Amino acid sequence: MTPSISNSLTKRPAWHALEDHYQSMKDVHLRQLFAEDPQRGERFVAEAAGIYLDYSKNRITRETLRLLLRLADECQLREHITAMFKGEPINSTEQRPALHIALRAPRSEKIVVEGIDVVPEVHAVLDRMADFASKLRDGQWRGYTGQRIRNIVNIGIGGSDLGPVMAYEALRHYSLRDMNFRFISNVDGTDFAEATRAIAPEETLFIVCSKTFTTTETLENAHAARQWLLAKLKDSLAVSRHFVAVSTNTEEVSKFGIDTANMFGFWDWVGGRYSLDSAIGLSTMVAVGPDNFRAMLEGCHSMDQHFLTSPFDRNLPVLMGLLAVWYNNFFDAASIAVLPYEQYLKRFPAYLQQLTMESNGKHVTVGGVHVDYQTSPIIWGEPGTNGQHSFYQLIHQGTRLIPCDFIGFCQTLNPLGNHHDVLMANLFAQTEALAFGKTEDEVKAEGTPDWLCAHRSFEGNRPTNTLLLERLTPYSLGAMIALYEHSVFTQGTIWEIDSFDQWGVELGKALARRIITELDNPDETPFRHDSSTSALMRRYLRLKNAAA
Ligand code: F6P
Repeated sequence: MTPSISNSLTKRPAWHALEDHYQSMKDVHLRQLFAEDPQRGERFVAEAAGIYLDYSKNRITRETLRLLLRLADECQLREHITAMFKGEPINSTEQRPALHIALRAPRSEKIVVEGIDVVPEVHAVLDRMADFASKLRDGQWRGYTGQRIRNIVNIGIGGSDLGPVMAYEALRHYSLRDMNFRFISNVDGTDFAEATRAIAPEETLFIVCSKTFTTTETLENAHAARQWLLAKLKDSLAVSRHFVAVSTNTEEVSKFGIDTANMFGFWDWVGGRYSLDSAIGLSTMVAVGPDNFRAMLEGCHSMDQHFLTSPFDRNLPVLMGLLAVWYNNFFDAASIAVLPYEQYLKRFPAYLQQLTMESNGKHVTVGGVHVDYQTSPIIWGEPGTNGQHSFYQLIHQGTRLIPCDFIGFCQTLNPLGNHHDVLMANLFAQTEALAFGKTEDEVKAEGTPDWLCAHRSFEGNRPTNTLLLERLTPYSLGAMIALYEHSVFTQGTIWEIDSFDQWGVELGKALARRIITELDNPDETPFRHDSSTSALMRRYLRLKNAAA
């Protein structure tokens, strides 16, 4: 079947205007833009929910912005935002709303989905979580033998892991230090073995997080955890003191053997990668306490309101989303690097990978028609300054254009000598070097021999955003999470895709299920795969059995 191709986006007047405009911009250097407007660094900025966004070091002019904003209007971004906030079924292939904004709505708000105001339900779950988290934190909730719970192990994968682990690491400064928090996601025994090493079952609580409660990796790990616990405690009654579940699927939770009284629910209108603010964030709440967790939700909510109500030319998620489209579709930049100059944000790039790439890595429009343009960029990154000593070489002097988001904080949570000034000096220096570079003439003027000048020069003109915040707090983390969520939504809206489904993960899952059966019964079922896959499976079994 020949796929039909959607060219509705690339036929839009604003798109054509941007294509023409790109021709006039592609060779313009940031050096020139800053020379023409010495105040540029104070003009191309926007601020909301404690985040100061400097987007002046982007290859744009006022005209670029005007055209990108026109594109947003032609794509009816405002109407799409309103539809999301009203709980309309914008996740069209799964026919449901994408209503993570309701997870951080204050009690006073009303958000009606299919005739039901969901805000009271959201707060009822948050209150139960707070009660449970407080009992764990102050030692009221004890294990089966009466021991205090000292280890919290989150079992989950994808959004049921990346959100909790990212937020725990990000807010570790605010966490209870006499409890241990561990995370098991991979169906690789190593992950389980290392997470449960040297901890006592009688002091351990497992939080099994799975929206569907059918995810193979999570169920395998949850079964292993149950065995690990019972090997020591020898009584299945112990399970109810050491396991809680977070899921939308009550039936599967009870089939697994977790008492549904120990279950925290959420709703099918919360996507996995958007679920940190639901009960999926329980481990984070236990770590940092209910008040800090609620402060994180407040940060999200402030950004939500900013996204909903601010004019687009001052709207952080809209500006960042449109800049991502500008580089992705006109400069052909395939990736974006996210570079937090904050060690606590070490898992933030990994979290953003799922958020962005699972949301917008789609090749058909909401109408099921093939796109004739690129969709999601590849997201990657590491905390600064470590990245500077590994991959920044390519960003500075490689042949690819890699727009970067630099994230920094004015106050450190761990003052130590001159460290923070050195750290931030590096952030500022990198954005300056990337933008302005160093010409061969400048290099030569320093006395560099001719033969080395080309190697030592920097073209510059590498675009960056800088997000500068006062301090890493639960509130500021929440604001950043919502900022990126809404930037992803902005991009998905321009590209006319459903940012809330993830059909691309299904084929691999189905094939793996079949292969598991074949590997378990190699004599009964002949491998019915291509010659490469079958040969690999045979070799795997031969060598595995040889070791046995
Ligand atoms: O990888 C697909 C996916 O469905 C993600 O979207 C999701 O976050 C993850 O698997 C885990 O799903 P669940 O929470 O249902 O176990």
